Amino acid sequence: MAAGRRGPGDAPPPFGDDRRAPPLAARPRIGLEGRSGEGLRTPGRRGQLAELFEKCAAWKDVQVLKIAGHYPYYRVIEETDGTEVVVDGKRLIMACSNNYLGLATDRRVTEAAADAARRWGASTCGSRLLNGTLSLHDELDRRLARFLGKEAAVVFSTGFQTNVGTISALVLRHDLIFADRMVHASLVEGMHAAYGETKRFRHNNMEDLERLLSSADPNAGKLIVVDGVYSMEGDLANLPRIVELKKKYGARLMVDEAHGFGVMGQGGRGTGEHFGVHEDVDLVMTTFSKSLASIGGVIAGRADVLNWIRHKARALVFSASMTPPAAAAALKALEIIEQEPERRQRLWDISERVHRELRGMGFDTAPSVSPVVPVVVGDQALCFRFWRRLTDLGLFASPVVKPAVENELVRTVFMATHTDDQIDRALEMFQKAGRELGLIPHEKPHTRVEVKMARPGVTGFYSSHEGGTTAPGAQDGGGRLEIADVLLQPDQPWSRRLSDAAEMITWKALNAGPEDWKQLGELPVRLWQKRRQIPSLLISAGMNFVSRRQQGGQSSERDA
Ligand SMILES: Cc1ncc(COP(=O)(O)O)c(C=O)c1O
Repeated sequence: MAAGRRGPGDAPPPFGDDRRAPPLAARPRIGLEGRSGEGLRTPGRRGQLAELFEKCAAWKDVQVLKIAGHYPYYRVIEETDGTEVVVDGKRLIMACSNNYLGLATDRRVTEAAADAARRWGASTCGSRLLNGTLSLHDELDRRLARFLGKEAAVVFSTGFQTNVGTISALVLRHDLIFADRMVHASLVEGMHAAYGETKRFRHNNMEDLERLLSSADPNAGKLIVVDGVYSMEGDLANLPRIVELKKKYGARLMVDEAHGFGVMGQGGRGTGEHFGVHEDVDLVMTTFSKSLASIGGVIAGRADVLNWIRHKARALVFSASMTPPAAAAALKALEIIEQEPERRQRLWDISERVHRELRGMGFDTAPSVSPVVPVVVGDQALCFRFWRRLTDLGLFASPVVKPAVENELVRTVFMATHTDDQIDRALEMFQKAGRELGLIPHEKPHTRVEVKMARPGVTGFYSSHEGGTTAPGAQDGGGRLEIADVLLQPDQPWSRRLSDAAEMITWKALNAGPEDWKQLGELPVRLWQKRRQIPSLLISAGMNFVSRRQQGGQSSERDA
């Protein structure tokens, strides 16, 4: 593995990965001398004694955090309706579930799960290879392959197993893996289990990826592995460039769409669809524990490759299949995802509002361009205090600290089913806690609020750190998507085009800085030029809005 900064997969939160403990010489001596246990001595390792459980007894991090009242993990949820939970008898707004579309508590999904338990039982008690493939699993394989536009798919019992099983089955001795340093822990486990060598490139650094690819054995089988949406910081893989590189160097590409499935792209197929390169993604992986509101995982791709994985992936062959209720819940959730695109729209609306308002208060939510909203704190102790205060105020969020992330942050995700009132209250809690702890100024800064969101159809960037147009104004290649272009999109219904254009006008006006005045000034001209295609209602609404703003009128949303 390449040296350098570790990604979250290398060191799952919160306390690092002890499997890569320091060499014995660097560890505190473990005092077993004087005891008779011959078998406890580790021969040949500088006479050091190492009793297997001693490290556990010596490890006090958790106790220290508990004494400080700052232990944020393994919280027991006593009740949930999805958007709110009860912990220690107190009601909290759930702000870090990966239940993006809010389907985990949807009546249709829970009924499907209950019916499946009644019909098929609680467990299959067997692996898919032998007695554990029910018609539910077979249907899921087929429906997911169809949805993802791939020849075949196979469903595992968890997303973690899908990644471990797929990579270790495919990457044999002499094959090479090229993985982003920030990929998920399950992909890293797959790389550890694979016989081939792994090379890690700097996060989303395409020069580094090309450097590794160009110096590799041209005859070796090559697999590039990335997350579509990075789960902690919410930025995306630069898939258009990765696809170019994979073609140039004859590699295959696997994308983990755990946080992209149901969220990214017009149809919710993931980051590949979002960037228009879905066909070039050889292996699409997703988990069912997020938008699909269940537990399980799937890998989809070419039929012969899937046939290989079905018979060679140890995590599939030697593990019991998904439970019938889990399989039925995922099937129902998939059906709803296909039929109710408005859920995705609502998720993006909420996420964009949360990003904008948090940034407006002075918080840093970079580099996210997705519904994963990281509130960057940058200091471990402060991060735990911030989390504690948010909890006391009534918010359930997750603190994420080094080495899982470079800068400590509180990770939030709001769901399509949160109400506006819940979002209002959550934002107030952020403002209160942030001000109390000095994370944000007491007055709202008057700086321009930059919000880049990789909403369906807005594809010119993968991170808000990137230069270029701010959302929703970028299109493929970094060019600007203008209001007239939106209105002329023939594949979109008229009503959708109108609302997108109105949203863009509003956004432009709300976020106008000095450099935008010229552009805003030209807006009515452009609208006029396209007047034949644009209803007069929209023209007047947009122009009124812009002129009010130019005359110093205030926007309600910006100042809320
Ligand atoms: C990017 C990514 N991949 C894979 C997984 C594993 O999925 P599962 O929860 O189904 O094991 C997760 C879950 O956190 C994830 O975030």
